[in-house]
Amino acid sequence: MAMVAANFKMHKTVAQACDWTREVAGSPWLDRVEAIVFPSFTALDAVTRTIGGAALRIGAQDVFWEEAGAYTGMVSPLQLRDVGCSHVLVAHSERRRYAHETDADASRKLRAAIGAGLRPIYCLGDDPAAAGRGDPLAGLSSQLREGLGGLTRAQIGQVIFAYEPGFAIGTGRAASPREALDGAAAIRKGVAAISQAEDAGAVRVLYGGSVTADNVHAFLGRGGLDGLLVGTASLEPGEFVRLLAAVVGG
Ligand code: PGA
Repeated sequence: MAMVAANFKMHKTVAQACDWTREVAGSPWLDRVEAIVFPSFTALDAVTRTIGGAALRIGAQDVFWEEAGAYTGMVSPLQLRDVGCSHVLVAHSERRRYAHETDADASRKLRAAIGAGLRPIYCLGDDPAAAGRGDPLAGLSSQLREGLGGLTRAQIGQVIFAYEPGFAIGTGRAASPREALDGAAAIRKGVAAISQAEDAGAVRVLYGGSVTADNVHAFLGRGGLDGLLVGTASLEPGEFVRLLAAVVGG
């Protein structure tokens, strides 16, 4: 089943996030797609309650690596579990850019999230330096090596990867299907090498960057990608339901 993640970023009040959830939870596609919503921290609890028994999962956009303590402004994996989260984004490109997160931070967050029973979605592929050298895939190997550093093979098996090339995030210019598949293939190869896994195909890889209801077919129709991470096109609930319908072929 394809995974479709809706990343609200810094959008929506609690009431708006709950309205969105009611509309999406009532759509007929949720039993044929693994949909996960990532609201702001402020709306997590209310959205969990609104989801109720619907087949919609919830995750947070970030997490800190400690369980508790004097870490002002941080939110721990246990606190995320407490408000119903099953997933968490780690090292999204905007966290790297605005909060200066490093691959070493990502590694700590991945370990902490997995330790608390959360499924992390590790975002990678946005390396301006590498892109400037004309190779959008060049940054992937260090993001994989550092980010997965210190994780056991079993822990690596819990990580979902999201290939998000910087030029495509929020720009309206999605990667070509070839670029997205090349990114996913490079991630699978890199992960298999690091974890000594024989089956690179077991690694789950999403594509993110200017995904819309009109281009999902290009990414999911040909194998090689397990789902999508959607920002802008997830914000309006009707548009997101249309996107889900396109994913399941409805
Ligand atoms: P976008 O965002 O769909 O608006 O490009 C994707 C993301 O940042 O995850």
